[in-house]
Amino acid sequence: MKGVTQEDKKAMKLFSLPGKKIASIVSVLCLSALMVACGSANGGSTTTINGNNGVGCKKIGVLLPETATSARWDGQDRPYLQRDIPATLSGATVDYTNAGGDADVQQTQADAALTKGDCILVVAAQDSVKAARIVADAKADHIPVIAYDRLIQSNDLAYYVSFDNVQVGKLQGQYIADHYKDFVKSGVGKTVMIDGSKTDNNAILFAQGAHSVLDPLFTSGVLKNVYEQYTPNWDNPTAQTEMEAALTANANTIQIAYVANDGMAQTVIAALKQVRLNGKVLVTGQDATVAGLQNILLGNQSMTVFKDISLEAQATANIVAAISNGSSTANLTNGATTATTGGAKIPSVLETPQSIDKTNVMTVITAGGATLSDVCQGLPSGTGGICP
Ligand code: BGC
Repeated sequence: MKGVTQEDKKAMKLFSLPGKKIASIVSVLCLSALMVACGSANGGSTTTINGNNGVGCKKIGVLLPETATSARWDGQDRPYLQRDIPATLSGATVDYTNAGGDADVQQTQADAALTKGDCILVVAAQDSVKAARIVADAKADHIPVIAYDRLIQSNDLAYYVSFDNVQVGKLQGQYIADHYKDFVKSGVGKTVMIDGSKTDNNAILFAQGAHSVLDPLFTSGVLKNVYEQYTPNWDNPTAQTEMEAALTANANTIQIAYVANDGMAQTVIAALKQVRLNGKVLVTGQDATVAGLQNILLGNQSMTVFKDISLEAQATANIVAAISNGSSTANLTNGATTATTGGAKIPSVLETPQSIDKTNVMTVITAGGATLSDVCQGLPSGTGGICP
């Protein structure tokens, strides 16, 4: 909006709230050490937030994208971040919101977080491009944003904490390269690729990593890519519809299903069950969810990728604490950066993913990614050689 100052925007944000709420928010903000101006000479109520680039900040906004497409967000990311941030930065509180799969809701939640006085934002973007506005709004208030798990395409991002996501896709692709012969008995191995959401930068990286391994096999004619779709919002039921369409179009002659995560693998397996092909098709996944590990032990899913969320959450807490304490993050990022499409190099912490199949499910359990009792719940005794 031309001619509208940051103060005007802040005032507009406040005045769109009911009177009582405005009064309480203004008084809370005016008490904050991070405020530089409250009220104005002519009696008008203008409010300027100076987040001081997060230095001294103890109110941390954590914004997660949704809960439906992977058990990780509510089952691991939320509790670990809520535990690790206050444990690492004494006196810190976490202001948590979840966008429920809607990028516009996430924008509103980010605006509300700034208005409430959150002064460092940790954002797992619902939409990696749209969330650039969250970063811009925060920057106007001198508030740093850490992109959590999913890169935000903004050159103003302060940090990025995630896994090596191209490597995630490579592990999935490599598993197919190493094991397709167990599923392709003769002829060309017909391969379906169910990718994640195109608005999530990670989904693009996973597909890129997988293609880097699979494309040479497609080119040489060992495998054939008969169907590939990005799945809007990583929607699990949509993945089932995609798999059903691929099966129908190929008269059920599919031997490989590259599936980007365990949530979608679950519904892809449901599609395979309908035509009695579960266990006969190589299915990949990611996240080492309890359901994914059970599918592996039951022989319906071949592999998953374990990303130890506790490492990701702790790395985020370490960055938050360093920003707040005004200390160096050099020993946390070790010089690593990630390029945005706009050409910026964002200081990054990227943890290492691990490939999991029926031979090493215990790796996830030993690392605390799942408990043996959850994984073995409802499975016959002796399943996978690990269930009591
Ligand atoms: C995460 C995955 C998750 C997917 C769907 C991605 O950004 O990295 O772990 O399965 O989103 O929620």
